[in-house]
Amino acid sequence: MLSVKLNDITFSSPLLNASGCFNPELFNTMAPLNESMGGVVTKTVTQEPRPGNLQQRTVELPGIGMLNSIGLQNPGLNYFLETEVLMLAQYGVKIILSLSATSIEGFGTMVEIVTNHPNGHWVDAIEINLSCPNVAKGGVDFGISPGRVKACTEATVQASKCPVFAKLTPNITSILPVAEAAIEGGASAISAINTVVGCSIDIKNKKPYLNRISGGYSGPGIKPIALHAIWQIHHHFPETPIIGIGGISSANDVLEFMMAGASLVQIGTQSFRNPMIFSKIHQDLMAYGQSEGLQHLTDLTGCAHSQKMKRQSLIQ
Ligand SMILES: Cc1cc2nc3c(=O)[nH]c(=O)nc-3n(C[C@H](O)[C@H](O)[C@H](O)COP(=O)(O)O)c2cc1C
Repeated sequence: MLSVKLNDITFSSPLLNASGCFNPELFNTMAPLNESMGGVVTKTVTQEPRPGNLQQRTVELPGIGMLNSIGLQNPGLNYFLETEVLMLAQYGVKIILSLSATSIEGFGTMVEIVTNHPNGHWVDAIEINLSCPNVAKGGVDFGISPGRVKACTEATVQASKCPVFAKLTPNITSILPVAEAAIEGGASAISAINTVVGCSIDIKNKKPYLNRISGGYSGPGIKPIALHAIWQIHHHFPETPIIGIGGISSANDVLEFMMAGASLVQIGTQSFRNPMIFSKIHQDLMAYGQSEGLQHLTDLTGCAHSQKMKRQSLIQ
């Protein structure tokens, strides 16, 4: 009932983790998380290792989420292909490799490295991170420009043997031009949204908490922003699958995202608070589907739009 088909990939569940917010070693230590997750999205990987930004890089915002300015700390693509991908492969979940590059050609080069590596076949899909607010080059600076979004997506799609998802930023007046650019570039799906730029001040020390002053805001407070983005993308590009991200903490949240237009969802910040959130939401979605007599949960995708149309026609 919960499986989702996207291109040629069948995800056993619509629940994925959000990049940078999940430690796959949890598969070893807790109840079978891989049964409730349709796939794992890796931490964003760059071609060379990155140490990330200087401390302080995270701030908790009680009740509403957190700020981070990690800055894409990662051990580099070669380490991922030699080590991490094999660790993930043993759990039988789909593997979505999140990639970031500092140039358009860099995306193509990284995908060629993946394709030509003996372990590259374990990667089921690629998510290009065009939206990190915490790096000087290759993040939001790419993601706010429709031309660069299209070019980065095209470079990735042309080199890739598997579907490419474009992860977009909400830090822009309207997400639609960049969503359209990603679709024109050949993206198989849109992942939305990455974090919202924010700041927090330590009043005791009279300075920002984050060394980089601002960072990416995530968690329950950004849910309405994410839902708005997903609603808009689905309304304008109803044929394009959407992977909804932003502030999800319950099955009801997942249902909202699906009704707004998402086919799959990713859960980030709330999984820090409760790593078992995937199992709980999975159970609750099954119970909901049974009580509603649904055959496929994805029948709900975008259904709130048609309700709106019905309401409008009643008014006329
Ligand atoms: C600590 C932290 C690290 C993150 N690292 C990445 C990353 O490497 N790549 C990426 O695309 N998004 C990254 N994100 C953004 C999340 O994947 C997600 O888009 C965002 O947090 C919104 O979802 P949430 O409200 O469920 O956390 C990170 C978020 C957090 C909190």
